[in-house]
Amino acid sequence: MCGIVGYIGKEKNALRILLNGLKSLEYRGYDSSGIAYFDNDKIITIKEKGKIEELEKILDYSIKSNIGIAHTRWATCGDANKTNAHPHSCGKITIVHNGIIENYNELKNQLQKNNKKFISETDSEIIAILINKYYEEYQDIIMAINKTKEIIKGSYAIAILCEDIKDKIFAIRKDSPLIIAKSKNAAFIASDVPAILNYTNKYIILNENEIAILTNQNITVLNDKLQQIKKKLLTFKGNITDAQKGNFKHFMLKEIFEEKDVIKRIIKKYNTVEKLNNKLNFLDKYNSITIIGCGSAYHVGIIAKYLIEEYANIPVNVEIASEFRYKKNFFDKKNLAIFISQSGETADTLASLREVKKEKIDTLGVINVPESSIAREADNIIYTEAGPEIAVATTKAFTAQLIIMILITLYLGYKNKTFTKDFLNSTLTNIDNLEEEINNILNKSYKEIASKIAQAKNIFFLGRNIDYGIALEGSLKLKEISYIHSEAYPAGELKHGTISLIEKNMPVISIITKEHIFDKTISNIKETKARGSFNIVISNKQVIDADINILVPDVNPILQPILVIIILQLISYETANLKGCDIDKPRNLAKSVTVE
Ligand code: G6P
Repeated sequence: MCGIVGYIGKEKNALRILLNGLKSLEYRGYDSSGIAYFDNDKIITIKEKGKIEELEKILDYSIKSNIGIAHTRWATCGDANKTNAHPHSCGKITIVHNGIIENYNELKNQLQKNNKKFISETDSEIIAILINKYYEEYQDIIMAINKTKEIIKGSYAIAILCEDIKDKIFAIRKDSPLIIAKSKNAAFIASDVPAILNYTNKYIILNENEIAILTNQNITVLNDKLQQIKKKLLTFKGNITDAQKGNFKHFMLKEIFEEKDVIKRIIKKYNTVEKLNNKLNFLDKYNSITIIGCGSAYHVGIIAKYLIEEYANIPVNVEIASEFRYKKNFFDKKNLAIFISQSGETADTLASLREVKKEKIDTLGVINVPESSIAREADNIIYTEAGPEIAVATTKAFTAQLIIMILITLYLGYKNKTFTKDFLNSTLTNIDNLEEEINNILNKSYKEIASKIAQAKNIFFLGRNIDYGIALEGSLKLKEISYIHSEAYPAGELKHGTISLIEKNMPVISIITKEHIFDKTISNIKETKARGSFNIVISNKQVIDADINILVPDVNPILQPILVIIILQLISYETANLKGCDIDKPRNLAKSVTVE
């Protein structure tokens, strides 16, 4: 949710470096972008509405500058236009901001009473105004930043330039991610690691209340008492090709094709009973589980609920983080709260984690991004190890989360003696062997189905039990990237009102993989067919009522969701591709939602 980059180095190619950094962070928002750099003694700001390529068109790369900050925006406060685009300036100060300043209205009113003029509708402009005000007052930039930090409320990652100081960039953060990195001849600020990977894989994470000062020689970090502190240098373990498209047309397709490797990578660490025990025995003490997440991560929670309850006999409650954090919750000490998040930075999931921790309930993060906020704050952490996921619509991270939840199910089921060691061992082997089945799915074409769906205005996804959880994710994937309205329903629930929406030729995509409810879902499919729907059925047995029947390999039922979801991801991809949508950067979305 908004991407920030900063560069200060010996080389005078700041514009190129900042723009390339922005491109690698475009998944964080892309409705406008901007850049500010020193041209001799002056800070020059250039911004443009639309995707980063619009900014690129108007930049003059012959300009030699060795310092600058840049921003790609996902509008929260104020329309997506050029005036509201970052950077924002006031007097000597220019800033870029990711997050939300919650008390900006109050602060704005006070400042307006003193005749302060605001140019934009954003909350962010207040930061430039306040820092400038205190800079004029104290004549000391650190004091000015510190004072501003004490006044503003909300979430922020901020990079700051001061026109009087042309050899330094300053940065602060709270509840929004920000890393600071160093190469031999330069220092960088970025919202996420991909922006720095071309230059270095060494970085530090700035904590709340710290101030970072970057020069082309070094990085200094001050604590809340403005004393210099030492920070742990982290090394990013992936490599740059993880964050590149390679020969694929879109990141999303590349990431779907990576899913089998991700599964292999994970299962290697858990493929024997001993390894499973060693990694997961901290789960022994809990009688119930609450799973909390947003978007696709929430859908993993729904699927996991069906799995854990059926196979491990433990009650599971699943909550949408933005609801959970503001409602009354009931806990006991034998409940484990699991937070699922790709980014580890989703504002509502992070806030929910903090709420739970206040109650002294144990927490587990199932997280993809190492050292992210949730990864650092949860009591236990399981990394999903999907590698950097660039496409906004999640695919490989979703599958990785699902595999981890399946492993948790297996561990708990085995401990609770709901199944035998033989079943456990064979399921672990089955996971290891999923590659072949996935390859078969990847080698098939989904273009014909896509052509049926692409013309539709509305689509239903149906399923019962686990298949309903998968339907939820299939539906979200389709609407995210193809802009076709779709809804997922528990198959038996459709007739309680929603069936009135079925029209002639409306596609209904049903998932049926559970033996004991196979016929029940077939009955529901018949109900829609009788009203003229076009039925696409994904099932592990032939369904004669289907207009198109995709047969999914009949594997171990615990693993069935993995295969079905890959098919649904491919269908969504092909549909969006056919419609010519911007698949990796769908309109209005951002990958990492760090505001509530
Ligand atoms: C955004 C993304 C979704 C994602 C959700 C939760 O809405 O577009 O794809 O599922 O955030 O993100 P997280 O990083 O917490 O998994």
